[in-house]
Amino acid sequence: MNKINLAVLPGDGIGKEVMPESLRVLDLLAEIHGGLKIERTIYPWNCDYYEEHGKMMPDNGYEQLRNHDAIFLGAMGDPSRVPDHIALWGTVINLRREFEQVINLRPVKSLKGVQSPLRSDKEFDFVVVRENSEGEYSQVGGLIHQEADEIAIQTNVFTRKGTERAINFAFELAKTRNKKLTSATKSNGLYHSMPFWNRVFEEEAKKYEDIQTELIHIDALSAFLVTKPQSFDVIVASNLFGDILTDLGAAIMGSIGIAPAANLNINGKYPSMFEPVHGSAPDIYGKNIANPVGQLWTGKLLLEHFGYQELGELLLSTIEELLVDGVKTPDLGGIYSTTKFTDALLERLAQK
Ligand code: NAI
Ligand code: MG
Repeated sequence: MNKINLAVLPGDGIGKEVMPESLRVLDLLAEIHGGLKIERTIYPWNCDYYEEHGKMMPDNGYEQLRNHDAIFLGAMGDPSRVPDHIALWGTVINLRREFEQVINLRPVKSLKGVQSPLRSDKEFDFVVVRENSEGEYSQVGGLIHQEADEIAIQTNVFTRKGTERAINFAFELAKTRNKKLTSATKSNGLYHSMPFWNRVFEEEAKKYEDIQTELIHIDALSAFLVTKPQSFDVIVASNLFGDILTDLGAAIMGSIGIAPAANLNINGKYPSMFEPVHGSAPDIYGKNIANPVGQLWTGKLLLEHFGYQELGELLLSTIEELLVDGVKTPDLGGIYSTTKFTDALLERLAQK
């Protein structure tokens, strides 16, 4: 019997609604497989915890988490109670850094049964590899002077190690897919960082002669995601560019509520973390209408990370069957609640 030992952090808002539903589904998938056991410890670290303890996680939180095979996270944040930078830096952002989760993997794919807001009905299927540890998201910089003289300086950090690592990961991924890699750049505007990024990309490309490559400026690339998303296979991007591209990716899929993501530790030292793209959606929390597909598809990435490709495929294809049949939550125009959608999914899976 193989075992996956999960640390589960439901977090805040709809994280507390979609996580329990996703765990029911993972349990059934493990049962269907027969040789897999998913063990888990639930950690109630979130804004409630902050109100009680003055911090988002206990001091030994990282030690507790690092003994798990992976972290399965809902979403953090409740801006009406805790400022966002405290809630997110105190959890998600620091976890990505502490556990050297240097790659953020975000698949973008048209799902059967879901209407994309794009007029063209051409199917698309690509993956964004986002550098997850440095780039534009750094704490280097500062504020000086005040009022009319105030100056904010924010420094971008692009190391050779970090850049090479992300680009190399993307080439390896392209090798297993349709052998095309697009690099998001902006070397016409960013004087130092992006010409460096391009140079590293071109050096890596020499090692992968069978992969078709292209460099596209981020502004044009954003437009192409709208006008011809079907032309992409793997896209590699810096932290900020990847962040923006993947929200756009979620939008063209039809709802932010379905988009999945994985934060990967690739040196094997720490657990990877699997969390949907969406946040805690306080505007719909408590109504049992959140779409659980983002969390569920994230569960598919988790299963695949541990080699359970077939279970992952079974999960997503069964979700697509339901969507085609009109079993949908309100964000996709349906009438199903979070719970009712999951019940229908469990029922359909049990028939497989
Ligand atoms: P959000 O993703 O929570 O919500 C944006 C919009 O999408 C809202 O209208 C929401 O109702 C809708 N939405 C999101 N997920 C949905 C789902 N599964 N089903 C149906 N509709 C869904 O982003 P927002 O409003 O900017 O942030 C809310 C909180 O979440 C903030 O505290 C923010 O910092 C936090 N956040 C946390 C993240 C994380 O923990 N990784 C990621 C993004 C935001
Ligand atoms: Mg984002």
